[in-house]
Amino acid sequence: MSASVASLAGVRAPAVRPAAAKSASITKRARVSARPARAARAARHVAAAGDAAMESLQFLKPEEAKAVRDAFGTPAYVYDLARLEEQATKALAFPNAFGLTVRYAMKASPNAAILKVFRKKGLNIDASSGYEVHRAVKAGFDYADISLSTQEFPDFFPELVEKGLKVNACSLSQLEAFGKAFPGGDVGLRFNPGLGSGGTGKTNVGGPSSSFGIWHELLPEAKALCEKYDLNVVRIHTHIGSGSDPAVWTKTSGMSLDLCRSFPTVTTLNLGGGYKVGRMAHEQSTDLQVVGTPVKELFEAYAKETGVELTLEIEPGTFLLANSCCIVATVQDKVTTGTDEGHTFLKLDAGMTEVLRPSLYAAQHPLVAVSADGSSPASKASYVVVGHCCESGDLLTPGPDDAESIAEREMGAVERGDMLVVEGAGAYCAGMSSKNYNSFPEAPEVMRGRDGTMHLIRKRQSLEQILENELELADDACA
Ligand SMILES: Cc1ncc(COP(=O)(O)O)c(C=O)c1O
Repeated sequence: MSASVASLAGVRAPAVRPAAAKSASITKRARVSARPARAARAARHVAAAGDAAMESLQFLKPEEAKAVRDAFGTPAYVYDLARLEEQATKALAFPNAFGLTVRYAMKASPNAAILKVFRKKGLNIDASSGYEVHRAVKAGFDYADISLSTQEFPDFFPELVEKGLKVNACSLSQLEAFGKAFPGGDVGLRFNPGLGSGGTGKTNVGGPSSSFGIWHELLPEAKALCEKYDLNVVRIHTHIGSGSDPAVWTKTSGMSLDLCRSFPTVTTLNLGGGYKVGRMAHEQSTDLQVVGTPVKELFEAYAKETGVELTLEIEPGTFLLANSCCIVATVQDKVTTGTDEGHTFLKLDAGMTEVLRPSLYAAQHPLVAVSADGSSPASKASYVVVGHCCESGDLLTPGPDDAESIAEREMGAVERGDMLVVEGAGAYCAGMSSKNYNSFPEAPEVMRGRDGTMHLIRKRQSLEQILENELELADDACA
């Protein structure tokens, strides 16, 4: 079957968010009521939505959203090839003193087409499970291009390492397992440097509240294991969180260099990912040149002091993907809870089954209205936007920083059958959805080519596929 749709409307997306978006009108603050009736409602309260500017489409044109819906149905993820490549180019320009490897943290979105785009750009892979290693190899990567940093060390790791996979041991037990399997081998060590930073508590993976990596104070135990198995530590790895504060990221880079000092055999320092990306118009993005330059200087100073010229590795996921994808969804219902204390709710045909981040982290995603005919709505309105799951937490407009609260958001006025485009849906969306909850099928993924052609890169799941691993329980096994 042809997976591509001819160039849609012949339009080219702008490479960056239009400047007009940033000066657009100010969102109405959500109405806040302290009345008891409100408090009784499912312990959920209404948060102020903040003074965010009204959002606009980032790379699709309104008529392209309609064309996606007509060709593939909704909900559908749409990735933009040009943006993926542009972000990869920026990552490859990360300041470095003695060489750079950029690994795509494929957990952000593991579709083979995305892996292919990045492989062709010269990126390597950060895998977070043995299964991701297999998936990257299927997409054309060599084992030697992949490094594994995982919370669950796969039983089958020896066969992967024999083929060339690089391993960063993330706990003492992983290090022991590696040493037993490959005495005298080369290994990387992922440390928790004692400090973390993420956009939210749930995306902070450093410091004493985080289980990721070998706690830095266990350095003597790690060294003892390396001696026991005669291991060469060739790589130190730290990753302190997603959406990290750039200042904390730079500080932990210095702490990671201190860890390298303890292992004279180290030739590579991997500083993970975590580069903050603004999805909403008012949110800031990390400039890689700004965070990278002081780190480059630290590498130079380290080389002067030790004579070792370390190669730098970085592992961005969010930076490459976040604003390179949107979800085209349909408003399948519109309900109200009254005019005084209530709200007008839009119910999409998407939700936590496609984008879990708002429910999980109170993440804010731009929501842009497109009329059913592919035009932009003329008037504005404020709505609470929810997903299609039977779950009060399936919410696309949580209050900022509080997944328990709801906030109204101003956007183009819509009716049933119109569309909402959920922007910023590239990283940790298709790859991190609550798949098949309420038996909703996995949504298709589409890649928008440089000429506007829409290529289907994952089909919508069928009911048969949802059921395919279920086995019938024999009648005589149940009453
Ligand atoms: C080890 C490791 N490296 C890189 C990343 C990518 O982080 P980000 O998407 O914030 O760039 C993650 C994310 O969880 C990670 O766990």
